[in-house]
Amino acid sequence: MKKWNVAAIKAAKGVERLGCCTAYDACFARLADEAGVPMILVGDSIGNNVLGFETTLPVNIEDSISAVSAVARGVKEALVIGDMPFGSYQCGDDLAMINAVKLIKAGADAIKLEGGVRVVGLIKRMTEAGIPVMAHVGMTPQSVNEYGGFKKQGKTPEAAKTILEDAKAVEAVGAFAVTLECVPEELAAQITSVLKVPTVGIGAGVQCDAQWLVMHDLLGLNERSPSFAKRYAEIGRTVRQAFSDYVAEVKSAAFPN
Ligand code: KIV
Repeated sequence: MKKWNVAAIKAAKGVERLGCCTAYDACFARLADEAGVPMILVGDSIGNNVLGFETTLPVNIEDSISAVSAVARGVKEALVIGDMPFGSYQCGDDLAMINAVKLIKAGADAIKLEGGVRVVGLIKRMTEAGIPVMAHVGMTPQSVNEYGGFKKQGKTPEAAKTILEDAKAVEAVGAFAVTLECVPEELAAQITSVLKVPTVGIGAGVQCDAQWLVMHDLLGLNERSPSFAKRYAEIGRTVRQAFSDYVAEVKSAAFPN
């Protein structure tokens, strides 16, 4: 298998369903890559999963650059997507371009940013500059203060229509794929059938072309996971036990032996 690129991701729509995940360092990125994960997102969810914040809002572009370069060093085949953190593209399009270029120079093959109609000018400019963009609509976690919590979006017919329009608008200006987060399954199915580019769902049901799962949920590293997530392992439990065995063996002089 050769390196995934955006053309291959687009071509997979309707042919192959893609199980994709986040990663934030070279070690886990290498393991996901070796397992055949086609797209690895260096999500701004590094904020809550790695850096210990409650939300993604405190993440800085420097955090993302350093994580993207680590992930890129661990990966041979997966498409690496650098997520643009809050503040890196809201303070003017010139600064947004500079920050997107930094993520590409750090090793990202593409970038992701949140928003629909309100970011179409920026997505157009990025794609025209040769920066592949994945859009992200529905529940966009950087708007948590606007929502008053991480709440499912698109539940009323009007709200669903707005999200559908957002998805169509970002596709029209060149987004190569669209993340759909926490929207009703029927809306995700409708958007997936209307768009020509792939949808990548998270908490959006089974009808999307591809799925995201946050690595810490997938591996059971977090104490709690959202209800839509599936824990494929309980690595956190194993790691805690290993630390505790080590401490006990040093105490009893069983290690080193
Ligand atoms: O940062 C992240 O992990 C994401 C996913 C929820 C898609 O944006």
